Amino acid sequence: MKTPIACGIDFGTSNSTVAIAGNGTKKLVPLEDNKTTLPSAIFFRPKMAPIFGRRAIAGYTEGDEGRFMRGLKKILGTSLMDDKTNIGGRAVPFTEILQTFIGHLKTSAENAAGMPIDNLVLGRPVHFHDGNEAADKKSQATLEKIARAAGFADIEFLYEPLAAAFAHEETVQDEKLSLVVDLGGGTSDFTVIRIARDKMGRADRKDDILSTFGVRIGGTTFDYRLSLKNFMPELGLGTQYRDLFDKDKILHAPTGVYFQLSDWAHVNFAQTPKAIQETLDIKRRSLAPEKIARLLTIQENHLGHALLGEVEKIKIDLTEAEAANAQFHKLGLDFEFPVTRREFESAIQDDVSRVMNAIDESLRRAGVKEKDIDLLVLTGGSTELPIINTLIQKKFPHAAISQGNKLDSVGLGLAYRAANIFQIN
Ligand SMILES: Nc1ncnc2c1ncn2[C@@H]1O[C@H](COP(=O)(O)OP(=O)(O)OP(=O)(O)O)[C@@H](O)[C@H]1O
Ligand SMILES: [Mg+2]
Repeated sequence: MKTPIACGIDFGTSNSTVAIAGNGTKKLVPLEDNKTTLPSAIFFRPKMAPIFGRRAIAGYTEGDEGRFMRGLKKILGTSLMDDKTNIGGRAVPFTEILQTFIGHLKTSAENAAGMPIDNLVLGRPVHFHDGNEAADKKSQATLEKIARAAGFADIEFLYEPLAAAFAHEETVQDEKLSLVVDLGGGTSDFTVIRIARDKMGRADRKDDILSTFGVRIGGTTFDYRLSLKNFMPELGLGTQYRDLFDKDKILHAPTGVYFQLSDWAHVNFAQTPKAIQETLDIKRRSLAPEKIARLLTIQENHLGHALLGEVEKIKIDLTEAEAANAQFHKLGLDFEFPVTRREFESAIQDDVSRVMNAIDESLRRAGVKEKDIDLLVLTGGSTELPIINTLIQKKFPHAAISQGNKLDSVGLGLAYRAANIFQIN
């Protein structure tokens, strides 16, 4: 069935947006207090409807009872996707949690449209997983199933960087060979594409798309590195403890819990009764018990997401300033320490190199050189990082740069595509 309005959904690792096409326009939909972005976060409270986005983050941060989740796009295509998780005593499949979130986006689109919407263009990264075609296919198939279960009848996919290109097209008078760099929370995605205002209505753009490419590196990867380098040592990463039977034997504290606490999609695993029990056991024999006590406080009070939120905040502060002060004063925890931009940049240098190599690969696949690129479209929150922004601009000194609407260009572009595919004016 064809409804007169279709929508585009950019389900992002960190933020989601929705735009609708119909009645002669394409427009972003307000998702929370007139804001067009919604943090991809969900908070389940006992005996109440789940809440989303900033409200979910606030509920969790204020210490309300419940289960908080963020960054769930990253589990698509992993074994976790077939698992269930305990929410208020019920084993809930992860797919159902994603369906609840996508369903909420659908409702928001329908409220804005004033009618039901069946037709959807859903964004996807070029690669959900690096060099793993099976996991890529599985990720898209799972996402499609979830969107169908949420009530969409006709679902098409579009690479996120292509959507960003389409969203910018209206502002491009004469044809420009463009490189789109979309650095988000979970992935970095690229396309080399010819765009021009007068191409906008065309459904077939194959000849204009010279290459698409992507790698699984994004803002959450940078949070992970910063957390492990500067935050987790404050909770005992790298400390030692005594063997249970031979008191003279010194062992390294297990590291698994620190990796979980540094990864948005795995934080909850660090806060299970079993994980807490393990830390209690280490603490009794630790050579740095005060640090392990901090770890325990984080685990017992489910503060893992709050701590990772502080990591992300420091990362963003370091975009503006050369140094920032990490602080954690909560529920009996009281510690702070300085972090410099230089330290952060050294923690992510391998990732930055991989992003820059991926740009080279995108050009190579397109069969073009740096000097051929007329326009750089920088989108996604992580293009704000000074080191990346500077390196990219240096690489293309002659190219014009477009870097507005970094958090909602993909969503809007998906609605442009929806209008073309579903022939909606
Ligand atoms: N000023 C800033 N400096 C550095 N990083 C930033 C800044 N602002 C936002 N970010 C980061 O950008 C990321 C979010 O960007 P964006 O909303 O584009 O991602 P997404 O679309 O949700 O993810 P993806 O497309 O990978 O699924 C987060 O990791 C956030 O910390
Ligand atoms: Mg994105």
